[in-house]
Amino acid sequence: MKIGILTSGGDCAGLNAAIGAVTIAAARHGIETLGIRRGTVGLMGDEPDYEVLRPESFTHDLMHKPSTFLGTTNKGNPFQYPDGEGAFDDRSEEIIRNIQKLGISTLIGIGGDGSLEILHEITQKGGINLIWIPKTIDNDVDQTEFAIGFYSAVRTATRFINNLHATAQTHDVIMITEVMGRDAGHLALHSGLAGTADVILIPEIPYNLESIKAKYEAIKASGRNYAQIVVSEAVKDLEGNKIQRKSASGKVVYGGIGEYLKEKLGEVLQAEIRVQSPGHTLRGCSPTAQDVMLALQFGQKAVELVLKGQTGRMVAMKDGDIIDIDVREVAGKSCQVDVEGDMVHTARAPNISFGDE
Ligand code: F6P
Repeated sequence: MKIGILTSGGDCAGLNAAIGAVTIAAARHGIETLGIRRGTVGLMGDEPDYEVLRPESFTHDLMHKPSTFLGTTNKGNPFQYPDGEGAFDDRSEEIIRNIQKLGISTLIGIGGDGSLEILHEITQKGGINLIWIPKTIDNDVDQTEFAIGFYSAVRTATRFINNLHATAQTHDVIMITEVMGRDAGHLALHSGLAGTADVILIPEIPYNLESIKAKYEAIKASGRNYAQIVVSEAVKDLEGNKIQRKSASGKVVYGGIGEYLKEKLGEVLQAEIRVQSPGHTLRGCSPTAQDVMLALQFGQKAVELVLKGQTGRMVAMKDGDIIDIDVREVAGKSCQVDVEGDMVHTARAPNISFGDE
């Protein structure tokens, strides 16, 4: 029995702890773990790019190190991989061949829903066992309360927002903080709530400028001359318009809604407006204790599934317990904020605006 492990998609905090947890638990059962470098890219070509992982390498420093020491990829679907000359090749057979060449019986993937869909298809095609560990700062993987990396990103975004309050107050400024999250508003909602924002805009609740204007006027009427707006990158207005563009590889890329709102609100509000974004610090930050714990629990559970000969399972958290579910229930799906749920309800109670009333 030999485990192959890779990280896939955008990086985040807690990945090294998850790789370590798998390696240590596997070694305890005499199973060797091979770390695949650069995600599926490390399995393309004639020779796989990998290293044999040793439990003793996972010191405290490495377990808490940001990002992933194995590297990852978030560009190019192996089934339609850019050939560099404008055309696309199917590289899935190379990946299967290299997994078999390494003698890997189970591949453990750590990634989001998009990577899961791809790896599920590849491993099915190659008759290889697959166990999945969810990670993403967007927290949009379905069927799990938390994915690795989310709470570290929330901590970093909250600190960022917290650090703007005093200066916003001193200079009478409306601060707009744009955060990542793709089509799910979890990160904006959690950090905006924890960071005492006045307005939180999330993709699940279309906003209108009139509502934001009314909220700011109410703040001014209460004697306060500054405000904090936290906006998730993929929010849409009442007509469904978002700020987005296509990357060279055809991927939808978000970013820029903060500047757009500044321009639009500047036309209707007599106020100084500043825009900033924690950007990739949300991904590149060090893990919180919560993310390290989650990584340890997910890693341990993943190895238990390997020992039981399971395949096509994703580890997940449900009601605080670590469980496993069929990856077919998750692949290609994504989980958005429940607009009727507790978190939105909690935010509305102290009168935080979602730009919709
Ligand atoms: O999915 C994680 C994420 O950080 C999103 O929140 C964001 O939209 C995207 O990745 C950014 O990816 P990239 O760094 O490739 O632009």
